[in-house]
Amino acid sequence: MEIKNVVVIGTGTMGQGIAQWFLQQKVAVEMVDSNYEFALKSHAKIFENLDGLLAKGKLQSADVANFKQNIHVKHLEKINPEADLVIEAIIEDKEVKKELFKKLDEILSARSIIASNTSSFPITELAKDLSDKRKNKFLGLHFFNPATIMKLVEVINGLETDKEMSHKLYMWFNARGKVACECNDAPGFIVNRVARNFYGESLRAVETYDLEKIKEVDQVIREVGGFKMGPFELMDLIGIDVNLSVTESVYRAFFDEPRFKPHRLQKEMVDAKRFGRKSKKGFYIYE
Ligand code: NAI
Repeated sequence: MEIKNVVVIGTGTMGQGIAQWFLQQKVAVEMVDSNYEFALKSHAKIFENLDGLLAKGKLQSADVANFKQNIHVKHLEKINPEADLVIEAIIEDKEVKKELFKKLDEILSARSIIASNTSSFPITELAKDLSDKRKNKFLGLHFFNPATIMKLVEVINGLETDKEMSHKLYMWFNARGKVACECNDAPGFIVNRVARNFYGESLRAVETYDLEKIKEVDQVIREVGGFKMGPFELMDLIGIDVNLSVTESVYRAFFDEPRFKPHRLQKEMVDAKRFGRKSKKGFYIYE
């Protein structure tokens, strides 16, 4: 399989990392965001990251120069209609995502693959309004945060996904240093399903906002459990708003299964606009 050009739609936490990772695989990247100014900022941040890697000796200057020429911010209507792969990384809202897929279906040529980076929505459901000719070219590609560093990519087949195509993608990622795994189309796939209880039980352990307890839980999980990050640190990194949306959709998709129930502290944090690192305030304060 040849992936020479990719369009990344949604240039927030995930889109920016995914775009940079593809760029570093020598793939041409187009970045699109409904907030054009924001896409320009993400583009500038990628340049900054590449310069940082150059300064640390992790990249060569010729490569950095090539990468910088290979990435452009575009309006949706102006993307390359012959793109090999389009990755959606917009907000975790099913209807907004489905609307975007309908537009992409019209813009793109029949050969283009469309992938969603959704954390929780079933792929078969997201593909529902696509034309019949596109349904087999639609799948889930779930990257992890930060996408430039985290190796895992969950490759998710919907009921109509062409399994041969998704297997080729799986091989493509594994050949480039990612650890891809092929997952069933179950709510939350593998990691986000298992992780619901990691967050849920931690939230239930502290119950209300109490920084000392939060720090204690994180410390125990990190130092005794051997995890790289505690649950609250991780929720701050992911975005508490994103984490809440994922929890809500996994809970609903399992027909209100109590073990996946969201916690009111998550909602309280979102109501207070304490989204985590991206808003400089979450369970912890970031200066
Ligand atoms: P984010 O909030 O950082 O970024 C979302 C971006 O999408 C924003 O820049 C927004 O302007 C843009 N956007 C919204 N609607 C749009 C539209 N209709 N067309 C184009 N752009 C649009 O969100 P984040 O965290 O990057 O999440 C994106 C997706 O990735 C979600 O589906 C999320 O569940 C998933 N995800 C998130 C992870 C995380 O750790 N944050 C990890 C893995 C997956």
